[in-house]
Amino acid sequence: MNAATAARPGRLVIQDVHKAFAGTNGVLPVLWEITLDVRAGEFLSIVGGSGCGKSTLLRAIAGLETVDSGRVFLDGVPITRPGIDRGLVFQEHRLMPWLTVAQNVSFGRKERVGRGPDEEVSRYIALVGLQGFERSYPHQLSGGMAQRAAIARALINRPRVLLLDEPFGALDAFTRIQLQEEVLRIWRAEGTTVVLVTHDIEEAVFLSDRVAIMSNRPGTLRKIVAVDLPRPRDRTTDGFSRLRALVHREFFAVRKTTEDFQI
Ligand SMILES: Nc1ncnc2c1ncn2[C@@H]1O[C@H](COP(=O)(O)OP(=O)(O)O)[C@@H](O)[C@H]1O
Ligand SMILES: [Mg+2]
Repeated sequence: MNAATAARPGRLVIQDVHKAFAGTNGVLPVLWEITLDVRAGEFLSIVGGSGCGKSTLLRAIAGLETVDSGRVFLDGVPITRPGIDRGLVFQEHRLMPWLTVAQNVSFGRKERVGRGPDEEVSRYIALVGLQGFERSYPHQLSGGMAQRAAIARALINRPRVLLLDEPFGALDAFTRIQLQEEVLRIWRAEGTTVVLVTHDIEEAVFLSDRVAIMSNRPGTLRKIVAVDLPRPRDRTTDGFSRLRALVHREFFAVRKTTEDFQI
């Protein structure tokens, strides 16, 4: 992608966000005092255990969820609703089963030009490595290919922030590693800010500039680890192992300090 077509990366500012859900057993606090600044062009991961509020936080950034207090800003503008400046990819591909890859990618496009694959759609399909599969339907794709299509769909409007919610969680280990490499390549080519939610510490260390560690519910973000390893990264090096061990230790330390906090 050249400079003229690349997205302008967005800066996210999350200020003192709290969020609770009303449940059958009363109020369930899910996000607690979340403050986070994601730099423009940064690749930031959020790691945390199941149910700690990771998806809720990502949905708040996406504008799909309101917060009870605090605010989320994209380039200084409060986020109040979903917008094409934020692209979202989930664990499941969520492609429309009755549409082809090309139709799925072009479906959410801001400016729709005809129904067939046009230049822009083809470019994004090629960017995620799916050329030749434009006319395939989702059921004809492997899990990894479907996630590639979902990434192309999220990128078609050139979002300033790409939000990835455990996008590789349902894939086998080999496909996951392959797609991690692809996402890095796409991140470099597109120049967007990326926020990745994952429960896989190795994945977070491999991909990110910084790893934010979320406590058990209610989720807080009090510890952020900078991954100062040069890219391309090699999982087999001592430096990588040290960083992974550090994030592991911080993760368990954060969980310990919040055990008393559980309700
Ligand atoms: N719409 C909702 N209504 C009630 N509870 C919810 C809702 N969405 C999420 N929760 C609860 O909030 C907690 C955090 O959920 P979630 O953000 O999906 O966690 P994670 O993505 O970290 O696994 C869970 O206990 C979940 O059951
Ligand atoms: Mg989740």
